[in-house]
Amino acid sequence: LSSIEVDISKIVPGQGIKTSWRKQPVFIRNLTPAEIQKANEVDVGSLRDPQSLADRTKPGKANWLITLGVCTHLGCVPLGIGEGENRGDYGGYFCPCHGSHYDTAARIRKGPAPKNLHVPDYSFKSDTVVQIG
Ligand code: FES
Repeated sequence: LSSIEVDISKIVPGQGIKTSWRKQPVFIRNLTPAEIQKANEVDVGSLRDPQSLADRTKPGKANWLITLGVCTHLGCVPLGIGEGENRGDYGGYFCPCHGSHYDTAARIRKGPAPKNLHVPDYSFKSDTVVQIG
């Protein structure tokens, strides 16, 4: 199985990058403390696809949110990873195809998507390098 290594050293809090893995877009986002707090304030049981931020990130690395950039409705690429893009009503990602809103843990909060953005297999090779796949 193919994997990629990504240098995350230049991604400052509040920003992210889009890379690609197995021909699919992958979003790597460095969450701010406020974004982490917002994600953790949510009652997980109230969610359509109940997962905590901790379920979706690595221990001690809650700021690194790594997901596929593929809407779980019909597969469009959501907005929100690029500078100044619409992040939707919950500050995460917004899919303009049919209006799905994802929160700062990339969990579906509003709109037709059934699932949170998928978290691929990944691991930290160091503090600044992540291996995806
Ligand atoms: Fe994203 Fe339909 S493909 S809302």
